[in-house]
Amino acid sequence: MKKPRGTALLAALFAALFSFARADTLTVRVDLALHPVSPTLYGIFLEDINCAVDGGLYAELIRNRSFENENLWNPRSADHWEAWNVRSRENAGITLERENPLHENNPTFLRAGLEGNGFAVIRNQGFGGSALRGGIPVEEAKRYDLSLWLRFDETASREARVSVFLSDAAGNELSPRAEYRGSTETSGSWRRYEASLTAFETGGAYLSLEVTGDGIVDADMVSLMPEDRVGRDWPGGGMRRDLVEALRDLHPAFLRFPGGCVVEGTYVRSDAYNWKDSVSAPDAAGRREIPNTWGGMITMGVGYYEYFCLCEEIGALPVPVVHAGLLCQARDVKDPPLTMAETESYAGDILDLIEFALGGADTEWGALRVRMGHPEPFDLRYIAIGNENWGEAYFSRYAALSGAVKERYPEITCIVSAGPVAEGSLFRDSWTSIRRRFPGDLADEHFYMDSAWFPAHADRYDNYPRTTKVFLGEYAAHEPARGNSRPGTLYAALCEAAFMTGIERNSDVVVMSCYAPLLCREGEADWTPDLIWFNDTAVYKTPSCYVQQMFASARGDELVASETDGELFHSVTRTGNELQIKAVNLSGEAKPLKIFLPGVRDQTAEGLTLTGEKDHVNSFARPDRVVPQPFPCVCLNGEAETLLPPWSLTVLKFSLTE
Ligand code: AHR
Repeated sequence: MKKPRGTALLAALFAALFSFARADTLTVRVDLALHPVSPTLYGIFLEDINCAVDGGLYAELIRNRSFENENLWNPRSADHWEAWNVRSRENAGITLERENPLHENNPTFLRAGLEGNGFAVIRNQGFGGSALRGGIPVEEAKRYDLSLWLRFDETASREARVSVFLSDAAGNELSPRAEYRGSTETSGSWRRYEASLTAFETGGAYLSLEVTGDGIVDADMVSLMPEDRVGRDWPGGGMRRDLVEALRDLHPAFLRFPGGCVVEGTYVRSDAYNWKDSVSAPDAAGRREIPNTWGGMITMGVGYYEYFCLCEEIGALPVPVVHAGLLCQARDVKDPPLTMAETESYAGDILDLIEFALGGADTEWGALRVRMGHPEPFDLRYIAIGNENWGEAYFSRYAALSGAVKERYPEITCIVSAGPVAEGSLFRDSWTSIRRRFPGDLADEHFYMDSAWFPAHADRYDNYPRTTKVFLGEYAAHEPARGNSRPGTLYAALCEAAFMTGIERNSDVVVMSCYAPLLCREGEADWTPDLIWFNDTAVYKTPSCYVQQMFASARGDELVASETDGELFHSVTRTGNELQIKAVNLSGEAKPLKIFLPGVRDQTAEGLTLTGEKDHVNSFARPDRVVPQPFPCVCLNGEAETLLPPWSLTVLKFSLTE
C-alpha cells in the first residue's frame, strides 16, 4: 500500500509506545448495523437567559428602544428610562407619555416639548458590554441601519428638526447625521423613518437624538442594527452574524425555543410568553414586550417568525415550547393555574401557532405568515407543551392541550415534560403517568448533575423500554463553582462526551437531545456553565460546545456493533461509506488502543481530538486553549493502532470504499 504522507512517522511513534503499554482493544463489526441512529439526535436549545437573545443573538443595538422596560419582580415599578438619558436641554421638556401611542401593545413613547427655539439631546447607551467599557459597539467604515418612528405636531412639523447620529461619551460625533423634519401632510401622525449611518471610528458609541426648534415631537421604536446581519429582511430585523455562524457550526438537527422558564413568566394570565405577541408585519412596533423571567425584557424582536426563519437558516427543525397553563412548579409562584375551562380556550392559541407555521394563505394565521414574507409553510413537526412540569395539575392540562393538537394535527408529535430531575420519586411518577397516558409522545427529561454523574450513568438508557421515546431537552455537567460561576472545563465536557456515547448507542430510544443553556453574554450570566460566550465584539466556544459539535458532525445513520476489552466510553456509527468512531479517554494517562476493523481498506482516517489539561477552560483571552486538533489514524490490514491522548474525546472517520 502507498502510505499517505506524514503517517509513517506517526505509525512508528505509536508502535514504539505500544511496546510499553498494553493496548485496550476495540473490535468493530463493520457489517453489523444494530439500529438506525435518530437523525434528530443532536440539537440546540435557545432561551433568552444570560442576554442570549435581547442583547445577544438579536441584532438590535439599542437597549429599551421602545421605552417599555419593566421590572418583572414588581411589574408596577416600571423603569422606562432604562439605558436612556437626557444629556442636555434648553427650553425643552423631555417626558415619557402613554396617551395616543404608536401601538396599544407598545404604549410608552418619548416626547420633546420645545418652546422658544428649544434644544435637547437624548441618548441611548445600548447594552454596554465590557469589551467597550460601555456603549454601542461600532466599527470604523461599517454601516448601521437606523430606523425610528416620529410624530411632529402641527407647530413642530413647520419649526422642529430631529437629528440622529452616533457620538462618543463626550458628545463628539462618530457618524454623519440623519436629519428629519415633519410635513403638514403628516403632522399629528406617526411615521417610520430610515437611514444608514457609517461609523467614523471603532469603539463604544451612544445613539444621540438631537431635537431643536418649536412644537412637540414624539419618538418611539428607535432601532440601530449592523447592516451585515443575518435576516435583514425579517420583520423583526435580523440576527448577529457571528452568533448565527456559531449556531450553524453545531450542525443542529433541531432548535428548541423559547424556554425553559421563559415560557412561563410570573403571571400566567398576563405575562406568560404568548406567541401572538411575538409576530407582526411589517416591523416589530406592534409586538408586546414582556418582562423576562431572567431579568430585562423580551422585546419579541426575535419572535416566532424569526425563530422559524433561523431554523431554516441553520438547517434545524423547529421545536417550539408553549406553557401548559401553569407556572414553573419549581419556583414559589403565586398565580394559580388556568382553570380547565381557560385551558380549553388556551388550546386555541396553540392550534393557531401551528396554523401560523403550516396553514395556507386562506387561513387566518397562515395568511399572517405570508404577509410577513414566507409564502411556504415552515417545517413544523413537533410541539412541546410545558417545561419541567409534573403531577396531575400538569398532566390533566397536558391531556387537554395535546389532545386538541392531535385531533387537528395528527402528524405533529407532542412533547410531554418528565419533570426537572434525573431520578427519584417525582421522576419515576412522571414516567409512570407518561407511559400510561401518553405513550406515543416524546418524554422531555431535564437534568443538571455534577460532572462525575455523567460517565457513571453512561448506561442510563441501556435498559429503558423502547416504546416511549426520550427527548433529552436540557442537560449539562456541573463543576463546583469558582467564585460565582461554574466553569466550563474540559473535564465537564468529557464527562458529557462519555454520556453522549451512551445516548448514541441508545438512539433508538433517545431520539433528541440538547445541552443547556446555549449562549451567555459576558457580564450577564444568570446561569453557568453555557455552551457559547460572547461580548460586543468576540465569541468563544467552550469545550462542551466542541464536544457537541464533534458528535453532531459525525452522527452517523446507523449504530454499528462494537466491543472493547477495556473500559472505554465509545460508540461506532456509519453513514453510507463512512465509519465514525468516537472514543473518550477520561483519565490523565494516554491510552493505547488497538482497533480491529475487519474488511476496512488501508488508509489514514480523518480524525479530530479534543484534549488538554483536565481543568482547562476557554475564555475571551484564550479562546483556543481547548479546541479540536487534527488526529490522523492509520488502518493497515484491517487494524489501526492509536494512542488516545489523556483527557480527550477522539473522533475518527474511516472511508468504507476503495
Ligand atoms: O437552562 C436553564 C433553565 O434550567 C431553564 O430555563 C429551565 O428549564 C431549567 O430549570
